[in-house]
Amino acid sequence: MKFKMMTYELWKYFGFVSSGFIIFCYFVLKYQAFSTMENKKKEGRYSRIYTQLSELVLKSNSQSARMATIVAVLHHKMEYFFWTGFYLIEDGKMTVNIYQGPVACQILEKDKGVCWAAFNRKETVVVEDVHAFPGHIACDSRSNSEIVVPFKNRDGEIIGVLDVDSSEKAAFSDVDAKWLEKILELIWV
Ligand code: SME
Repeated sequence: MKFKMMTYELWKYFGFVSSGFIIFCYFVLKYQAFSTMENKKKEGRYSRIYTQLSELVLKSNSQSARMATIVAVLHHKMEYFFWTGFYLIEDGKMTVNIYQGPVACQILEKDKGVCWAAFNRKETVVVEDVHAFPGHIACDSRSNSEIVVPFKNRDGEIIGVLDVDSSEKAAFSDVDAKWLEKILELIWV
C-alpha cells in the first residue's frame, strides 16, 4: 500500500515536471517564431523569393510593374517587413512611390533621415535602432529598425531608394542588404 502510494506520488511529480517542461518549450518556440529571423533562415527565404521574382518580372517590361511586384512579394513574404516601398527623387524632392504598409510621409525633408543618408552616401544603410539615428524621420512610431538601399536606373545613376521598416529592433543584417540590392537589379533585366 505504502509502495503504491509512493509510486502514485512519483508519477504525480513526474506529471507536473513534464507538463511544466512542455509549456516552457511551447513559449520558447513561440518566442523564436516571432523574434528576429536568423540569417540562415533569411538566406533560404530570399533565395526562394528571388527565383519567384526573376520569373515574375519577365512578364512585363514596365518599370513600375516590376517595382510594384517586388514590393508586394517582399512585403507579404517577409513577416518582419512593416513598411516596404520606394522613394524616388522628383524635382529634387525625395517623394514616396510604390509602397505597401501604413500611410507614409509623402516628401522627406532634404538631407535628413535614413533615406537621404543612403542616397547621399550612395550605399545601403542598415539602422538597428531608428530612435538612435540622428535626424530619423518617423512616418510611423511603430517602426524600430530600417534598411535603405539606393535604387539605380538602367545607366547606374541613383534615382531613389528602396526603404524597408520593421517594428522589430535590429531586424536587418548584411543578408537583407545583399539580397535587396540583388533584387533591385531585376527591375532592369
Ligand atoms: N524613416 C525614413 C522615412 C521614410 S519612412 O520610414 C516610410 C527616413 O528616416 O528617411
